[in-house]
Amino acid sequence: MNVVATGAELREALLDCAGSDGRRVLVPTMGALHPGHLELLKRAREAAGPAGTVVVSIFVNPIQFDRSADLEAYPRPMESDLAKCHAAGVDLVFTPDSAAMYHHDRSVMVTESLLSHGLCGAARPGHFDGVCTVVLKLFLLSGCHAAVFGAKDFQQVAIIRRMVRDLDVPVEILECPTVRESDGLAMSSRNLRLTARQRADAPRIHRALAAAAKLHDVAEILAAATMEIAASPMLRIDYLALVDAETLVPVTALARPAVLATAVFYGEVRLIDHVVVRSGKLKIREPAKKPD
Ligand code: PAJ
Repeated sequence: MNVVATGAELREALLDCAGSDGRRVLVPTMGALHPGHLELLKRAREAAGPAGTVVVSIFVNPIQFDRSADLEAYPRPMESDLAKCHAAGVDLVFTPDSAAMYHHDRSVMVTESLLSHGLCGAARPGHFDGVCTVVLKLFLLSGCHAAVFGAKDFQQVAIIRRMVRDLDVPVEILECPTVRESDGLAMSSRNLRLTARQRADAPRIHRALAAAAKLHDVAEILAAATMEIAASPMLRIDYLALVDAETLVPVTALARPAVLATAVFYGEVRLIDHVVVRSGKLKIREPAKKPD
């Protein structure tokens, strides 16, 4: 496994892999790799095939952070991350620092202006501009054919799909389901920063969303989820919303698949989670019958 820290080194290392016919698959991360990330690496290895190349980027992207305390506290266990990449069969790890990624007088950003309005986009102004900009740069630097993202950050994947569509970026977006702890808490690098008491309380987030998602009325769903989450004196709700699964606009009725999403703060630590809500009245499309 090759580890490189600049765009020039990455280009050179990729030339060594250029002889293979296989696909180049990128997994962009900010490190502190947990089993959720490892599922993405596995998916990338499968998608690349034995002749292909799996590239992982580990970069805590400063321009997507809205709070400098959060950026500074972000865990950076580089040694163990590299060991995990090696064990997962990764070919190339790109670990730039900020100076390697950004010119000091950079003046171009990528902005998605519709799907990023609500949820995390409203709560963290500029966050998705930072995400889109770094992801497009990583696509270009790596020259990848496909890239793998986690459904855990469902707004992020929706925005990246839109960016790829609208800018004709020739990269296929692959998506992996959310990986959870055995008590339901969505795995996140930020979970490492919870105190023992906060960690013991945090499974209520998913429990509340999953229970509320079984109800059939928008107001009831929002009230039930809010009540269960807000019952904890240890957290503060940043947002809780029921949005259309495609447009991410808040819904007033359950006519189409929707997503119940929340972000909460345990002290300084912000956690997000969501579940898909399907009304019992929604028609599930039957698979086409094969002729006998
Ligand atoms: P990061 O939070 O490190 O996540 C990297 C990838 O892992 C993202 O696609 C995220 O959705 C996925 N992931 C995280 N936790 C997961 C879980 N529990 N189950 C499944 N997938 C999970 O997301 C980012 O970094 C950054 O915004 C990035 C895209 C790298 C741009 O800087």
